[in-house]
Amino acid sequence: MPRPTFSKLSAEQRLHTENCMERLGQEINAQGGSIGFDRYMQLVLHDPAVGYYHTQQPIFGKHGDFVTAPDSSVHLAYCIAHACAGLIQDDAQRNILEIGAGRGQLALDMLRYLHVWGTAPHKYYIFEPSETLRNAQRELLEEHMPESMSVVEWLPDLHAELGSAIVIANEVLDALPVKCFVSDLRQINERCVTLTDQGELDWHTQEPSYELDVALDYLTVMLDSPPAGELYCSEICLQLGETLAAWSGCCEQCIMFLIDYGYPQSEYYHPQRHMGTLRSYFRHRVAENLFAYPGLQDITADVDFSALAQAAGRLQMGVLSFSSQRNFMLANHLLDWRPAGETQAEQVAQIAQLKQLTLGSAVGERFQVMVLGKGIEYGPDRFTLRDMRTRL
Ligand SMILES: C[S@@+](CC[C@H](N)C(=O)[O-])C[C@H]1O[C@@H](n2cnc3c(N)ncnc32)[C@H](O)[C@@H]1O
Repeated sequence: MPRPTFSKLSAEQRLHTENCMERLGQEINAQGGSIGFDRYMQLVLHDPAVGYYHTQQPIFGKHGDFVTAPDSSVHLAYCIAHACAGLIQDDAQRNILEIGAGRGQLALDMLRYLHVWGTAPHKYYIFEPSETLRNAQRELLEEHMPESMSVVEWLPDLHAELGSAIVIANEVLDALPVKCFVSDLRQINERCVTLTDQGELDWHTQEPSYELDVALDYLTVMLDSPPAGELYCSEICLQLGETLAAWSGCCEQCIMFLIDYGYPQSEYYHPQRHMGTLRSYFRHRVAENLFAYPGLQDITADVDFSALAQAAGRLQMGVLSFSSQRNFMLANHLLDWRPAGETQAEQVAQIAQLKQLTLGSAVGERFQVMVLGKGIEYGPDRFTLRDMRTRL
């Protein structure tokens, strides 16, 4: 594995990644020489001391590593706000819970729309594990919508009792730790993380852990046919069930909007996708080396929406609809949106974004929206122009 170049890092970034590396070394040694990729991802992304989402470095937007839909235009916020407005009109007791709110842009834009339309919720809860991001969200909301501060409440954990809620998670599930595996038709092994004699991070293939073995059992039909002569590498998220249980557990009833990139299982584990979907982002580039700059680069994997639907079923939640983000947005008044940016240049930029989202673009099709209901039934037409649940 090539040694990462540290030349372009600031002193602060260098210290952060060195601390992260030290923490990884301790963990790998304590575990007898290797750790699962899920543990690696947990540490490098989510550890409060050394994890990517907890650094003081900018990670979103132009000066960071990636841009999410709420950061690039107001359209997604507008459409989710429309969906929420209808649900709040049906039941004024419904509050909103946003999970993993990033910089807080979705919360800000949604609250602005809901306020103007007279459908603001009593409470807009945010559950955000990163203190750095909680502070950024508070700053953004305080600066641009100080009146929202009486509505917004940050939850320290998910042991709350929120009654009836609308739960929103945009690009959160793709950050959940995944386990990696490799199949060569004869057997499936787990791809773990180890340290070389030179102290560098590297892959280490070993027998799968019990939980991975069990989870892969039901995937083997698809994994039976990798292209001839190729190894089939992919990943699987074993934390979907417990994550969904935590998010829905604090609500008596809920409607959940889960928005992310991903596929139904047959497409996710298609023989041609033999390199999986795991990737990392560093300064707006897809980085080849998942082990470079630990703690300084984002690592993400697509969401297996069939597995998500199965996890929902185990929790007695119904899948109310599943569709492309584009068809979700078109059903939720995207074409009624009118520019309200301050400058003409901003308005032109927002119209260009709208075109990109509606004209069958990669963004609108690559992202999916799954709507789940706990104790609540609505037909799919309420949420999408074209429901694709049969593909799950
Ligand atoms: C890629 S960012 C998306 C941010 C925001 N939703 C957006 O669309 O701009 C992922 C967010 O999820 C949060 N996050 C990651 N894992 C989480 C988890 N298990 N539970 C709750 N939030 C999580 C991160 O701290 C971060 O705020």
